[in-house]
Parts: sequence; C-alpha cells; structure tokens
Amino acid sequence: MTTLTIRRPDDWHVHFRDGAVLEAVLPHTSKDFGRAIVMPNLVPPVVTTADAEAYRRRILSALPDGHDFRPLMTLYLTETTDADDVEKGFRDGLISAVKLYPAGATTNSQSGVRDVARVYPVLERMAEIGLPLCVHGEVTDPDIDIFDREAVFIERVLAPVRQRFPALRIVMEHVTTKDGVDYVRSQAENTAATITVHHLIINRNAILAGGIRPHYYCLPVAKRESHRLALVEAATSGDARFFLGTDSAPHPTHLKEAACGCAGVFSSINAMACLAEVFEAAGAMDRLEGFTSLNGPAFYRMEPNTAEVTLVRRPEPVAYPATVPFDGGAITVFDPIFPIHWECVPAR
Ligand code: DOR
Ligand code: ZN
Repeated sequence: MTTLTIRRPDDWHVHFRDGAVLEAVLPHTSKDFGRAIVMPNLVPPVVTTADAEAYRRRILSALPDGHDFRPLMTLYLTETTDADDVEKGFRDGLISAVKLYPAGATTNSQSGVRDVARVYPVLERMAEIGLPLCVHGEVTDPDIDIFDREAVFIERVLAPVRQRFPALRIVMEHVTTKDGVDYVRSQAENTAATITVHHLIINRNAILAGGIRPHYYCLPVAKRESHRLALVEAATSGDARFFLGTDSAPHPTHLKEAACGCAGVFSSINAMACLAEVFEAAGAMDRLEGFTSLNGPAFYRMEPNTAEVTLVRRPEPVAYPATVPFDGGAITVFDPIFPIHWECVPAR
C-alpha cells in the first residue's frame, strides 16, 4: 500500500500554550487535523468559561489563513470550579471537556485537584449533562514509584470515581500501561482512552539507555516494552474506546536539555506520518482511520470530519524538521528513531 485516504483526523489531546509558542506550533496541528481538544494548563490555567472564550479567540487569531480547524476548549478543574459556569460553557457549545490534573502531577498542575471528593459536585453535574472528564491518570504520592503511578491511580482514584458516577463520560488521557488498557476494556463504552504517538513508538529505554535523552521524557513517563506492545495492540485493535490524542507538548529545547528538564514531547508535525508507520508495521492500515478520525468523534458525540487527507508512502524517507523556531528559542520535534516514509497531504 502506498496511499491511504481517510477522513481528516482530529487530535483529542494537545498543548498549544500561548503567545509566540502558540503561533509557532498551531499551524502544524491545523495543517493535518480538523479539530483538537486543547489542554487548559496555561499559566495561569484556563479555569472559567470566560478564560476559555478568551483563549479560543487567541487560538483563532493565530490560525493561518486557509486552515480549516476548530479548537475544542477544555476547563482546568480546580477544587473551587463552579458547576454552573461549567454547565453554561457546555450548553453554549464552548466547552467540550473538563480536565482533571491531580495537583503536582505534571507541567502547570499546581492548581489541580488535591482531594477528588472536593470536586464531586462538579463531576455530578458533568455526569448529568453528559460533559466528558479528561483525566491525567497518575497519583502524586512520593511513595509511589513513578513507573507505577498510572496503575495506582486507577485503583485509588479512577475506580472509586467511576463507581460513584457510573454515567460520567471519562477519558483516561495518554494511557501508557497495559493496566490502563485493561481497565478501559473492562468498562462500559463511556470510559475511553487516548493514546499518544510517542507512547506507541518508544519505551523507557529511549529515555535512559546509552545516555539520558530528555526529548523522550514526558508524563506519564514511557514504560517498559510490554506496555508499549499493549498500547499498539489497543490502538490497532479497532476497539472504538481507543483514539488518538498526541499530547504534543512543546517546551523550549533549552528547558528540556537541563538538569531538571520539562516533561513533554512535541509531535504534531509528524504525528500522522509516525502513526502510519506504526499501523503499517502492525498490518493494520485499515484501522488507522478509526483510531485517528472516527472513534474520537463518536465518543465526543460529534460527526467525523467531512474533508479527507491522504497518507502517501514515499520511496525515500521524508525529512521532517528537527526543530521548530519560535520567538524565544526552538522546540525539538519528536524523532521516532526509525526513518519516516509517510507523509500526510490534503486529499485531492
Ligand atoms: O509530558 C507532559 N507534558 N505531560 C503532561 O501531562 C503535560 C505536558 C505539558 O503540558 O508539558
Ligand atoms: Zn497533556
């Protein structure tokens, strides 16, 4: 197979940031993707519908002419989030999801949730109105090994929330373990998971073996190979509960190549091409469209995009930029370590 035409994909988890970084990274998402769930972990975070409306305007004004792209806005859940404001944002069509960050779990999560019981009134309202909760599924307990934080989160936080709010629509974001995959599979279809491009490609050796490679460091951190294989199996299985969320998360290169480097992998430029490699290697090109373009809209109760893109397999490797400049530095692009032969172009 050398070409594959599919519905235009969506990215169900992305970080655009703001200002100069937003301007630099947005075009790389809006080139290939029709919509994206935009993460709210700005400084300060996007907490109210007024914040989300203002951020949406800033995104739209950074959008290149001719790009057909719709940002899907999210709210950053805090222990003082107002359920009425959330409901209003949802009913107005502005808010597509609410994001739960356990306080301290990751980049800009200091204002996140310390005690999940304190947000139960908001979760109850979300369950009533059908608004999805996107979850960063890691405990922050320093006693828990960083490689176990997702599995322990499922047991300590996710399972009790699920039990208390059976109708709540939950997306386990950037699932990285077989435990996460198995948990989602054990639940009804109102529990889903996004999977990133990089977690389908790298395991923890990429970060730690033969030298420390900060551009592969993200949260949740990549796990051992058996977990990666479980993710590939889930993504390529055709199970509609799994769909693409790149978690493309730009940080300036100098802040990643540091004694205490930031977490995040920037993959929006070559995400579709890398996925084509993964699905091709798994003999599952016929399931790529479900993962990137159909399962996500079905979960979010939206129509798939009507436009199409074509993935083209070139005889020679395609050169993707190694970095993306912005006013203030550069952002390093995800390197899958293998040559990329695929390219994503508008369908003709
Ligand atoms: O690696 C990550 N980077 N994981 C997250 O959860 C947040 C993200 C970011 O915002 O940089
Ligand atoms: Zn993220």
